[in-house]
Parts: sequence; C-alpha cells; structure tokens
Amino acid sequence: MFKDKVILAFETSCDETAIAIMKDSELLVNKISSQVDIHEKFGGVVPEVASRAHSEMIRNLFHLSLNEAQLELSDIDIVASTDGPGLVGSLVVGYNFAKSVAWSLDKPFLPVDHMVGHLSAPLIEHPQLDPPFLSLLVSGGHTQIVLVEEWGKYELLGTTVDDAAGEAFDKLSRYCGFGFPGGPAIQKISDGGDESKISLPRPKTSGKYDYSFSGLKTAAIYYLQDLKQEDGVSRKDFAASYQEAIVDSLMGAFSKAVKETNIPTISGGGGVMANKRLREKLAIFAKKNDKNIYIPSPALSTDNAAMICSAAQMNLTTKDLNINDVRLSSIIN
Ligand code: KG4
Ligand code: ZN
Repeated sequence: MFKDKVILAFETSCDETAIAIMKDSELLVNKISSQVDIHEKFGGVVPEVASRAHSEMIRNLFHLSLNEAQLELSDIDIVASTDGPGLVGSLVVGYNFAKSVAWSLDKPFLPVDHMVGHLSAPLIEHPQLDPPFLSLLVSGGHTQIVLVEEWGKYELLGTTVDDAAGEAFDKLSRYCGFGFPGGPAIQKISDGGDESKISLPRPKTSGKYDYSFSGLKTAAIYYLQDLKQEDGVSRKDFAASYQEAIVDSLMGAFSKAVKETNIPTISGGGGVMANKRLREKLAIFAKKNDKNIYIPSPALSTDNAAMICSAAQMNLTTKDLNINDVRLSSIIN
C-alpha cells in the first residue's frame, strides 16, 4: 500500500536543521545544516539561539532539498517530523513547518520519536536488520539499551540514572576547553594517547543494565585538580583514558544484556555511536560472540532526518496502519 511513496522528513530537535527525502527505501536527499559554529563560542547549545537559527534556515533548506531530489511539492506523499524528545523551541520549528507542508498539500503527517529515529537509522545502510535485536542508543541526552522484539515493540532494558554518555563527553570537554561538541573533540585529542595511563572509575548502578556517568566526570575533574607536572600525563593520555572509561562502561552493561538475553543481533545509534573506539569495541565483541552487528555509519549516527524517514518507512511497511492514526512517539520512554 505504501510502496513507492515519497516521504519528506524534518529533524530539528537540537542544533541541526535536517531534511531528508526517501522514496520507497531509497534515500534521495539527506541535508543537514549544522549550527556548531554558532554555539561553539558559548561552549554548548543555547536553546533560544538554536530555535532562531532553525527558523532562519528551514525554508531555504526545504527548497534546496526538493531541487536536489528533482521533485515538485505535489510529488510528496507523506510528511514526517521529530516531535520529541529535544529542545522545545527547536522542535516546534521543524514540527510546525512539516505539519504546515502536510496540511497545505492535504497529505498525511507522521510525528516520530527522536530515539525511534536513531533506532531505525541502521536500516538505511543495513536493510537486513531484523528483530529481535538489542540496540545501544547513545546520544547527547539519552543512553538506552532497547530490546526490539519486533518493529514497533520496544522494551527499555537499561538507561542512565544521571548524565547521558554524550553529556559526559560534552561536560568534561567544556570544563577542559577541549572543544565543542565534546565527543568528537575528545576523540580527536585521544588519538595516539595512552588509554591505560590513568585509572578512572567505571561506575556501577543498582539497575541490572543501567548506566551512570556523573561520578566519572567528577572523578576526572578531581584528578585534573590534583595533577602535577611530574606525573607526566599528557592531554592525549587524559582524553584517551576518559574516552576509554566511557566506552568500557557502555560496553559493560550492553554486553551483559546481549549475553543474558542471548539475542543474535546487535545494533545501535545516536551521536556517541560515531565514536571510533566504541565502534571498534562493539565490532570485536560481535565477532568474539558470533553476533550480527548493524550500526549506522558515523554520519547517520549523529542527528539527521534520514533516520526520521527510515522510522516512518519502517512503520508504514511493517504495520497495517490507518495513516491518520500513526504516532510513533513515546514508545521507548
Ligand atoms: O544524537 P546526537 O547527534 O544528538 C542528540 O540527540 O543529542 O548526539 C550528540 C552527542 C553529543 O554529546 C556529542 O558530543 C556526541 O553525540 N558525539 C560523539 C561523537 N560524535 C558526536 N561522542 C563521542 N565520539 C564521537 N565521535
Ligand atoms: Zn540524537
């Protein structure tokens, strides 16, 4: 019923204005306008500024996207948009723009949960990804282990009790002046560093598969405050040790969940999934334990609208739905 339909999707939950167009399962356009340059001088995303920048960018990006796909407005069959979680002032820009396009064309509108978007991103490059699988979703605001029993049926097995993994990168980077956003900055500085130089904690939680990162960040800050020249620890060693502690923590609960559920396939998404060290460790774990692994390329791990197209496409093709009733939001938590 939904074959060959053109899906137009918007994602503006944080500091990226993103638009994608998908026909059937083929990605025609995936445009991202990043606001990194704007927020860099503040050392973090300023919500009010982000919202204004989305408003200024979205119309042009929309016309560019249609041109690049060589489509007319009338070619669009379904419009989708992230409806949360995220910065409210940012979300409403993309959401209202998308809804207006759908309304003016008299086409169905599909609100999509941002984390379901990340969960669906691997499908773009790995259409063979099939439930059941366990997904490690690691972004700036969330750290989740999700059991996908079937598409649309999600169980949250673990989450963070305080900071998210991305937040742990971002906050320490801001404290140290390493750069913004923190994850890519710390990864870059870590290159060539000795990850075993400093012993940092791998915090445990009482929840079986839960995470905690705020104690690690505090331990790293205390370590820096006591650091002396003669300790011989370089910036590279410090960054590599911190990155290793985050990656080890992520792998700890996730590998335990994979083993205990005996799930054959692992997956993941979110900005932290772009991390080189995490990708390496996941690949090694999958190989050693004979698991299929399907994770998005780094460009599709960080925020984008192609994942919103993918979530919409997955939902439309796997379920017999009345499109007007479709709501993907709030499935995870
Ligand atoms: O999914 P995402 O793009 O936006 C949110 O939904 O939050 O994730 C952003 C997070 C930021 O915390 C950023 O520092 C982190 O992903 N990140 C990385 C890398 N690239 C982005 N963390 C570690 N290594 C990276 N290469
Ligand atoms: Zn995200």
